[in-house]
Amino acid sequence: MEFRHLGRSGLMVSEISYGNWLTHGSQVEEDAAKQCVQAALDEGITTFDTADVYAGTKAEEVLGRALKGVRRESLEIFTKVYWPTGPGKNDRGLSRKHITESIHGSLRRLQTDYVDLYQAHRFDSETPLEETLKTFDDLVRQGKVLYVGVSEWNADQIARALKIADEMGFDRLVSNQPQYSMLWRVIESEIVPLCEQEGLGQIVWSPIGQGVLTGKYLPGQQPPEGSRATDKSGSAMISRFMNDDVLTRVQELKPIAADLGLSMAQLAVAWVLQNPNVSSAIIGASRPEQVRDNVKAAGVKLEADVLKRIDDVLGSVVERDPAKTQSPASRP
Ligand SMILES: NC(=O)c1ccc[n+]([C@@H]2O[C@H](COP(=O)([O-])OP(=O)(O)OC[C@H]3O[C@@H](n4cnc5c(N)ncnc54)[C@H](OP(=O)(O)O)[C@@H]3O)[C@@H](O)[C@H]2O)c1
Repeated sequence: MEFRHLGRSGLMVSEISYGNWLTHGSQVEEDAAKQCVQAALDEGITTFDTADVYAGTKAEEVLGRALKGVRRESLEIFTKVYWPTGPGKNDRGLSRKHITESIHGSLRRLQTDYVDLYQAHRFDSETPLEETLKTFDDLVRQGKVLYVGVSEWNADQIARALKIADEMGFDRLVSNQPQYSMLWRVIESEIVPLCEQEGLGQIVWSPIGQGVLTGKYLPGQQPPEGSRATDKSGSAMISRFMNDDVLTRVQELKPIAADLGLSMAQLAVAWVLQNPNVSSAIIGASRPEQVRDNVKAAGVKLEADVLKRIDDVLGSVVERDPAKTQSPASRP
């Protein structure tokens, strides 16, 4: 495994991290979840990403149990707050009340005294930014959270947060967690330049397009049984890539991966890691073999001619519109 700084902070993270959205507490049984975490640890992954909302809070519990007994100082545990975790009007968003209640629930479920990174899962247009940032800053001072970051905020929202933090002396954001893959490059034109200048690192999600970039979904055919595209919670999110144009072009990436001696998943993870603003690529897995396959992307260098071949194959199916970085207009 290789390690990178999280943005300009002093925190080192494994350049491939393991995330348990859609899998732990939902798609896969606890035994499989634990085996995936163990495979991640065996392969040198030290950074683990989850969220209060995953599997209705069960994913944090599963991760807490799976990491029990591992030396805490050897792990970086990331979680998030924003999406609803209960039926009440205050069980969501980035108010002082919800953030404070949610971090306590996360720490309990994860069986830890602190999380290394606490992330605002989306932008909350119903809470003053000062209230959110002050609450984050208080959690840092209390030692419950070591660093703060955001997820899927647009460049304007990140810039406003940094300005307030600088004016008020609050702890600064160190990271952003966006979707990023060969197919989804919407952060490149606005967010990455801002974050490079301001010292935030990207912790990118769905680097293999939720499985699409493995090439296992064939155009014109039913998805393989047991894959995310057949999962009741997973199928909606993956559907944006499940069309024949995308799937046909992805098949055409296979010779590129083969020429490099890489699996398709390794090529996809290696691709996001070529961007120096990426601190870590968060991989998901429903089976431990997938973790063992995907981690081999660590440290792989892709030359300019390979990147060009990929661009030539994918062509117009690549999404680049920065306006696609969106949070709900009002709280969910
Ligand atoms: N901040 C956010 O809003 C946000 C949103 C989404 C995700 N995330 C984070 O990012 C993490 C990763 O997201 P993701 O799970 O979508 O990432 P991903 O790595 O793009 O997709 C993972 C899925 O692809 C399939 N797969 C992985 N490796 C494979 C291989 N070698 N061969 C065949 N299939 C393979 C598996 O699904 P099947 O076996 O079921 O097909 C696996 O669960 C999440 O766990 C979460 O921590 C954050």
